Amino acid sequence: MRKKIVAGNWKMNTSIAEGELLANQIDFLTSTLDNDVQIIITPPYTHLQKVGMVLKDHKSKVELAAQNCADHTSGAYTGEVSVEMLKELTCKYVILGHSERREYYGETNETLLKKINLVLSAGLKPIFCVGEKLEEREANKHFEVVASQIKEVLYKLRGVEFANVIVAYEPVWAIGTGKTATSDQAEEMHAYIRRVIADKFAQYADETPILYGGSCKPSNAAEIFSKENVDGGLIGGASLNAQDFVTIIKSF
Ligand code: PGA
Repeated sequence: MRKKIVAGNWKMNTSIAEGELLANQIDFLTSTLDNDVQIIITPPYTHLQKVGMVLKDHKSKVELAAQNCADHTSGAYTGEVSVEMLKELTCKYVILGHSERREYYGETNETLLKKINLVLSAGLKPIFCVGEKLEEREANKHFEVVASQIKEVLYKLRGVEFANVIVAYEPVWAIGTGKTATSDQAEEMHAYIRRVIADKFAQYADETPILYGGSCKPSNAAEIFSKENVDGGLIGGASLNAQDFVTIIKSF
């Protein structure tokens, strides 16, 4: 049985106080849930300590993740945050390769390979994002683009390392736009991603969680999650409202 995961990506939103409140609300609303969904929240760096303390104090089932990490272990890298620092803040996961990082901060597959290796060697789990832009889908290049994102980073890992990777398919045209991929489009790509993974890591492909991201919300989550190869969601906007986020979690 593959793990079901719903991860909230808060991006650069909320004050620290709002973040603490949101974490408290999510913890409260999920504390009595008895489904087997792994719940992850990803506040900004500045919130991790306080939010981590909220989760620890409540012995919460909600786990903590970071939105990014440095591509070096330590040293003279002004403005960067290392994986060991994130680990100290009780993060268990790190989102890597989000399209916003690729697009606005020039993250390449080469940088991402360095980061994913650091995350894995620290014993944290990467949530590795892939996805095509609108013009790539329109040119019918979406499969090719996603395959190359997987091959240039994930194929370079050893199988035992790959076993800890969570993949998120996030079509760039669906992120924050209100346009969701249809559940069939999501399933088609998720099944393809699983085949690409199987070509290299046959024994792990079946167990790899593949999350969908891009305007996933309470009104469409159940339909998307009903698909065989969709194992959960990476939720942006809708994860900033505790009620909406929990409704999505309950959509399984
Ligand atoms: P969205 O963002 O749900 O706001 O579209 C998803 C993401 O970027 O992870």
